[in-house]
Amino acid sequence: MSNSDLQLIRYQNGELWIDGVAVSTIAATHGTPCFIYAWRQIEQNWQAYDSAFGSQPHLVCYAVKANSNLTILKQLAALGSGFDIVSGGELIRVLQAGGDPTRIVFSGVGKQADEMRAALEAGIRMFNVESVPELELLNLVAGTTGRKAPIALRINPDVDAGTHPYISTGLRENKFGIPIAQAAKVCERLHELPHIELQGLACHIGSQLTELTPFTEAVRQIAGLADELSGAGHAINQLDLGGGLGIRYDHETPPSRAAYVAALCTAAGPGRTILIEPGRSLVGEAGLLVTRVNYLKEGEGRHFAIVDAAMTELMRPALYNAWQRIEPIAQRPDLTTTTYDVVGPVCETGDFLGKGRALAIRPGDILAIRDTGAYGFTMSSNYNSRPRVPEILVRDHQAMLIRRRETVSELMAAELELAGESD
Ligand code: LLP
Repeated sequence: MSNSDLQLIRYQNGELWIDGVAVSTIAATHGTPCFIYAWRQIEQNWQAYDSAFGSQPHLVCYAVKANSNLTILKQLAALGSGFDIVSGGELIRVLQAGGDPTRIVFSGVGKQADEMRAALEAGIRMFNVESVPELELLNLVAGTTGRKAPIALRINPDVDAGTHPYISTGLRENKFGIPIAQAAKVCERLHELPHIELQGLACHIGSQLTELTPFTEAVRQIAGLADELSGAGHAINQLDLGGGLGIRYDHETPPSRAAYVAALCTAAGPGRTILIEPGRSLVGEAGLLVTRVNYLKEGEGRHFAIVDAAMTELMRPALYNAWQRIEPIAQRPDLTTTTYDVVGPVCETGDFLGKGRALAIRPGDILAIRDTGAYGFTMSSNYNSRPRVPEILVRDHQAMLIRRRETVSELMAAELELAGESD
């Protein structure tokens, strides 16, 4: 990405290193597949966001869904990060990691009563409410806990984010947010909801955006609405402008974090606390998925590199046809380059990690799939009874295991026999 000046993951003498540790050493210690993350990269990215705000009151709320490993959350909490959560499970993770509840915002279209109760009891900063029925349920739940629920209304500004349709969220036809035209009317309902306290407005128009214009267009609309509602007597002191800044997977040229924050602040105008919810742009480029080539197979007019990672570890290519850089961890100038489809062992034609990749490799070689720190492990599954893979964090030039490899017995542990048939 344009604003990552520290090259923490790079080749030295033909070998891939991550913050001072050879990837080959980590692979030899922990086996493949595995995820490796560079903490220093995450820290640098977080600080780039935080410092870009200058004296503007703000809060950077990390979108936990991008990578929810407890150690990473703990490290971010220690930096003073806020958190954007979308489930009761993410709430428990953040609290366990020592996250400050007053820095937690709760997003999502389908919050359930038990999740609302837990968040109220924890004393979170704000619920980003996405519909009238959700508002009514939250009012009810808050009434039973004897607390007022602080909220922001998540507004759908009907802006085209110009990204993949599956990760676009701010268009009229998307399920997210309250249509901007209905916002004033929804606010009128608040008089009948005594356990709700309106504090702000929120929006999130999509993910992996590489242009500033959709952001500024959405923010201008939200800020205009905030002024209108303030004029009508509502206290709108916080604007949560969501996440969505893209990273460079291939040839994309996303704006820098500083340019993005500056554009948001200008479009939002002065006088309100600004929250952002970045996920991918904090952790994405800090991660590698490391995988071993098991077979090179000759198809009809195709070469396949069959590796030990699959769509179970990295779903993005199968789900969005996403392109992720794939490179050997040791460059082999002695080998000829061939064009491969890099595929996993899972029984699905959609199980590919990259198609048409020029690689100089032999069976047994190890590959790194780059920029997999976000939406890699968190979207992984146990399909084909594949245990989830370990995660390793490199900090202070040391590789530390932060999640061990799952076992097949763990996969079966929650399954029950039919009554009376155990032997
Ligand atoms: N806030 C809300 C309300 C969100 O729904 C999301 C992401 C974020 C913040 C963080 O967005 P980010 O800064 O990471 O773009 N699995 C997809 C991405 C889905 C994003 C869902 N929402 C992928 O792998 O591309």
